[in-house]
Amino acid sequence: MTSYEKHVNHDLSPMRCPVDLSDVDLFGEGAQEHWYEAYEILHSEAPVLRIEGGGLTPGTDAFVLTKHADINMVVKDGDRFPNLTNKRVGQLADKGLTPEEAFESTKSLMTASMLGLRPNPELYFKHRRELTDPWVGPGARRHTEMITEHANNLIDEFLADGGDSDSQSSVEFISRFARPLPQRTMASILGFPQEDIPMLAAWGDAVVTPFVHGTGLRHELSPEQTADMIARLDGFQDYIYEHVTAKRQDPQDDMVSFLCDAHYDALDRKLSNIEIAGIVHAMIIGGLETTQYALEEQAQLLCENPGVFQTLRADRSKLRSFTEESMRMRSPTHGLSTRITANDEVFQGVDVPAGSLLHLRFGAANVDPEEFACPFDLDLEREGLTRHLTFSAGPRVCPGATLSRLEQQIAWGALLDRFESIEYDDDNDWLHQPGIMLGTLRLNLRFTKAG
Ligand code: HEM
Repeated sequence: MTSYEKHVNHDLSPMRCPVDLSDVDLFGEGAQEHWYEAYEILHSEAPVLRIEGGGLTPGTDAFVLTKHADINMVVKDGDRFPNLTNKRVGQLADKGLTPEEAFESTKSLMTASMLGLRPNPELYFKHRRELTDPWVGPGARRHTEMITEHANNLIDEFLADGGDSDSQSSVEFISRFARPLPQRTMASILGFPQEDIPMLAAWGDAVVTPFVHGTGLRHELSPEQTADMIARLDGFQDYIYEHVTAKRQDPQDDMVSFLCDAHYDALDRKLSNIEIAGIVHAMIIGGLETTQYALEEQAQLLCENPGVFQTLRADRSKLRSFTEESMRMRSPTHGLSTRITANDEVFQGVDVPAGSLLHLRFGAANVDPEEFACPFDLDLEREGLTRHLTFSAGPRVCPGATLSRLEQQIAWGALLDRFESIEYDDDNDWLHQPGIMLGTLRLNLRFTKAG
C-alpha cells in the first residue's frame, strides 16, 4: 500500500494498480493513474529497469532510471551521457546541411534553429546566455507586473461569470486559470497579440503532441499522428515570419523584437528568420503545458492538505517553499528519454552497456525516499527544497525555470489575496491525459472569497 493518496481515478483507469514488479508498466494506457505506486515498487525492487529492445537501434536496450542520485549524475555529465538532441544536430552539421535543408528533412523548426545557432554543445551555453536568459531565464523578473495583471484579470473574469454566491466561487480551474495564464504570459513575452491566443493555443497543442499523446518510453507518434500534427501546425511558421518581418521594421519591447535585433556574439552575426522561428517554437513547447500542470497540481495539493492555504495567506514567505515542494511531489514532466550512455556503466549494480538509451524518470527521483524523507509529505520546512529534479539539473537545466517559478508564485499570490479558502467542488475524477506529463484533465474547485 503506497503512501501516495489515492483518488477515485484508480478505479477508472483501464490499468490495474500495480502490487508487485510484474504489474509495473509506466507507459501503458492509464499508467498515469498509478505512477506513484509504481515508483515505490521500482525504488525497492528495480531502481534501474531494463526495457529489452527499447534502445535506439535494433538489439539495444533502454533503462529507466528512478533514483535521484543516478539521474542527478547523468544530467550533470554531458560527456559520459550525451544528449540525444545534440547528437542529432551534430549529425546534421556533419552532413553540411543548412538550417533550411535540415527543416526540410526533419520538419522540426527547433532542430533547424539549433543547427544554425548551437551545432555543438559548446555553443549551447552561449545560446542560452545570450538569447533566452534575458527573457525566460534570470531576466524573467522583468515580467512581474505583466504576469500579475494577467493573473488578476483571469480571477476577475471567472468571478464575473454568473452562478456564484456572494461568498463562494466555483470554477473549472484549468480552463479558466491554469491554462490561460501561461498562454497569456508567453504571448506577451513574445510580443504576439492577445487576440491571437486561440490560434496560438491550437498551434501550441499541436507542438506538444509527442509529449501528451506519444506512447512508450520514447513517446512516439504513429505516422498518422505525425501527419496530423504537421497539418495542425500549418500557418504557424508563416505567422511567426509575419511578426518577424514587422518587428524587424518596427521593433517593440518583446522577445521576438529582441531576437530580430540581437547580435549573437558567439557566432558574430544576427539571427535568420528560421532561427528565430525555432526559438519561438521552443518557448511554446516548453513554456505552456508545463506551468499549467504545476498550477493544477498545486491546487490539488492545497485541497488535499487542509490548512496550508491559510498558512500561506498568513505568511507569504512560505509561498516559495510551497511551489517547490509541490513541483517535487507532482512533477509536470515525469520522464524524458533524452540521454544515452557513451561508455559501459553500472547503475545500482545493473550493467548498462555503451549506447543504451536512458529514460530519466524525474517524477520518481523526486519521491526517492533515500533523497527525501517522507517523500509524500508536503513539508514547507524541508531542507534543500530545490534539490528536486523537476527542471532537471546541471548545464542543460530547463532554461525557462525562472519564468515558470515566477508565474507560479505570482499566480498563488493573487489567488491568496482574493480568496480565503480552496476546496474541491463536485464532479471531479482526477483523470490524467496520456503521455509523459502529469496533466489532470478537469478540476472543479470552490473558492471562498476574501472579505
Ligand atoms: C514547471 C514548468 C517546467 C518544467 C517542469 C520543465 C521541465 C523541463 C525539463 C525536465 C527539461 C529537460 C532538461 C534536460 O534535458 O536536462 C526542460 C527543457 C526545456 N524547457 Fe522546461 N520546464 C518548465 C517550464 C519551461 C518554460 C516556462 C519554458 C520556456 C519559457 C521552458 C523551456 C524549455 C526548453 C526550451 C527546454 C529545452 C532546452 C534544451 O534545448 O535542452 N520550460 N524543461
